[in-house]
Amino acid sequence: MKKPVIAIDGYSSTGKSSISKIIADKLGLIHLDTGALYRGITWFALQNCMDANDSINLKELFASLDQIELEFRNNDGELILYLNHIDISKQIRTPEVSDNVSLVAKQKEVRDFLLTSQRSLAEKGGIIMDGRDIGTVVLPNADYKFFLTASIDERTNRRYFELASLGIHTDREQVKQNLIGRDKIDSEREIAPLKQAEDATVIDNTSLTKEETIDLILSHIKKI
Ligand code: DC
Repeated sequence: MKKPVIAIDGYSSTGKSSISKIIADKLGLIHLDTGALYRGITWFALQNCMDANDSINLKELFASLDQIELEFRNNDGELILYLNHIDISKQIRTPEVSDNVSLVAKQKEVRDFLLTSQRSLAEKGGIIMDGRDIGTVVLPNADYKFFLTASIDERTNRRYFELASLGIHTDREQVKQNLIGRDKIDSEREIAPLKQAEDATVIDNTSLTKEETIDLILSHIKKI
């Protein structure tokens, strides 16, 4: 029997990726964190495509897209993102990348570059993909679609502690403003904005633990 295709979308820091990874392990699916791909391109741009004002030169980035090779490698169950064969899993979580990723992700050229590979990965089924436009644009025919949301204060706390666990110490208010700013740009962009697919199940996990959110999602997925 064909394994399912599951789309998990939602706001920043609702736990989409860590929840998707656990569900993938439980159901024997591949997990693709599509936000990491946008972060990888942003990291590349910050290293290679800056203009004299220290801003990303988008034209230069578009012209360089064919030099970008992004690949996930499995390291003891942990998916590590490589950019042109270099581990960038830590770099893509830095505030510098978080502050610039929404600008990069709203560009048509960047979204088109990633769309084909995301779709072809799902062709054989057996995948859970998390992001912002998976249920609406990337995989509109997914077998299951979920949309995660939570209060801004709860999401700020989660991101703040996630960064601290990576050794990145930052200001809580700065984390909150980054989340608010990103959600705004992601929701208001013209191409593939962050929005709930009409047929998605909405889960507000403000007062749910990670395990409770996982159980809730699993309760919607038929036994495979
Ligand atoms: O999930 P994340 O916070 O790591 O995602 C980083 C950014 O990438 C997010 O602010 C918007 C963008 N993104 C997107 O536009 N489409 C996706 N499918 C996934 C992420």
